[in-house]
Amino acid sequence: SSVEAGKRAAAYAAVDAHFGNAPGHVGIGSGSTVFHVVDRIRQLSAERISNTGFVPTGHQSRELLRNAGLRVVQLEDVPGRINVAFDGADEVDGRLNCVKGGGGCLLLEKLVAIRSEVFVVVADRAKQSRALLTSYRRGIPIEVIPSATPYVLSELRSLGSTDPRVRDGAPAKLGPCITDNGNFIVDAPFPPLATSGAVVELAESLKGIVGVVEHGIFWRGDRRPERAFFGGVEGDWE
Ligand code: A5P
Repeated sequence: SSVEAGKRAAAYAAVDAHFGNAPGHVGIGSGSTVFHVVDRIRQLSAERISNTGFVPTGHQSRELLRNAGLRVVQLEDVPGRINVAFDGADEVDGRLNCVKGGGGCLLLEKLVAIRSEVFVVVADRAKQSRALLTSYRRGIPIEVIPSATPYVLSELRSLGSTDPRVRDGAPAKLGPCITDNGNFIVDAPFPPLATSGAVVELAESLKGIVGVVEHGIFWRGDRRPERAFFGGVEGDWE
């Protein structure tokens, strides 16, 4: 499909521009676009990848790396910085603020991103938008300590979230989605974040709720990408 072609083009362009020469550690995020990142990395010469440890952002990402025959290094075993991290996103605005966590891996994704010298996002063009929460309507993904959930939901409502909900697990599983860290994911819809002030305000308010482990807004207060590729074209700053 053209969406899949866009994802592949973005992933290939990002790897070609930012993988570098024999990096020590490379972060590999979650989602369907990252599949193409790993596919491109496997096409690089053996000298460029044989000394590289690949740092996954969750179960799916770790399996993807293992199946590709790439050397997996867990984040806690990385002593210094990660040279570059590649990851997908659910929505990216003109300042490269992102919403992430559609796949439920936002906590490890953010931990890998903040330890990376360069953080590169890859996505199809539909993910690029003027204001966050315009096209991604499911809401901000938020990782929550299970026993704190009723309190967090009521705090989210008082911040103006319309109908925040605990995310359900896969169809075969009755009950909530459990993250790689044993927590729940709450999806909290808000009106589109039309200004950078709105992004800052919401990111800080969410982080201030007791019981919230982390939220899926990637912004300048924690980490937004230095680079973003959409369907093979590099997106620029406003
Ligand atoms: C995972 O938690 C998300 O942050 C993903 O990066 C996001 O859902 C992108 O996935 P796709 O590449 O499949 O769109």
